[in-house]
Amino acid sequence: MSDKPLAGRVAVVTGASSGLGRRFAHVLSDAGAAVALMARRTDRLESEVAAIGAKGGRAVAIPLDVEDVAAIGPALDAAQDALGSISILVNNAGVGGDGMAMDMSVETFDQTFAVNVRGVYFGAVEAAKRMIASGVAERGEARIINIASIAAFNQLPGLSVYCASKAACASLTKGLAREWARPRIAVNAICPGYIETEINSDWFATEGGQKQIKGFPRRRLMDEDVLDEALLMLAGRRAHFITGTLISLDDGQTL
Ligand SMILES: NC(=O)c1ccc[n+]([C@@H]2O[C@H](COP(=O)([O-])OP(=O)(O)OC[C@H]3O[C@@H](n4cnc5c(N)ncnc54)[C@H](OP(=O)(O)O)[C@@H]3O)[C@@H](O)[C@H]2O)c1
Repeated sequence: MSDKPLAGRVAVVTGASSGLGRRFAHVLSDAGAAVALMARRTDRLESEVAAIGAKGGRAVAIPLDVEDVAAIGPALDAAQDALGSISILVNNAGVGGDGMAMDMSVETFDQTFAVNVRGVYFGAVEAAKRMIASGVAERGEARIINIASIAAFNQLPGLSVYCASKAACASLTKGLAREWARPRIAVNAICPGYIETEINSDWFATEGGQKQIKGFPRRRLMDEDVLDEALLMLAGRRAHFITGTLISLDDGQTL
């Protein structure tokens, strides 16, 4: 098999300015895909695009705030104009939505659902329309990969709103997979355990965070690269029989 299994494919990664999204953009590019990196912090996107370019990859930075639903379609059009027909969407942008119920603000609640649920849903819808129109779906190459969380199936401390949003993300993954089975768009989710990124680094620096890590069976957080294989499998050409699947990768943290 080619060492560039995604050669000729075009991928979009939302929330590519840091953490897991940044990693996903590099992994997809290293596998041969042209990649559109989207997020609000465009300076960070530009430096990742430069880093990918330096490795010989093809990438573009496209500003997108997924809370602005009307901006999602035009951002995908910009990606297609620059790179060609999209066949992989990684719906990764997410916010922590943390806080105890007694302290939760309406703004944080609404933002969590606007990014983690509404942004994922309309991102998928806008991508699916383009995958069908371009013929990518007909060729069996259309992949939507939502980044949910173990929070979809577990109550994590102080994260009830985040957990509800990720449960909704997991449910939508199955709903859209069912709805788009015929047009052959595969919709799946990766549900990671805790990996230290900007979303949680403040927490893990606290005594409570350190105590939580000691409570995990392996007493550790996961490394950023542990999702690479799952991502490549779901994006790959041979994965067209995998749809509506939620893949948990959590180092046993929830056992
Ligand atoms: N780290 C973990 O332990 C873990 C575990 C399970 C699931 N996840 C999920 O993995 C995904 C990535 O999180 P991460 O850990 O990599 O955290 P992160 O480093 O904080 O990254 C979050 C990304 O989402 C983007 N984002 C946030 N709001 C956005 C908006 N309104 N529009 C566009 N982009 C937005 C951010 O970019 P800008 O601020 O530049 O817009 C950033 O690139 C999230 O969905 C998270 O829930 C993380």
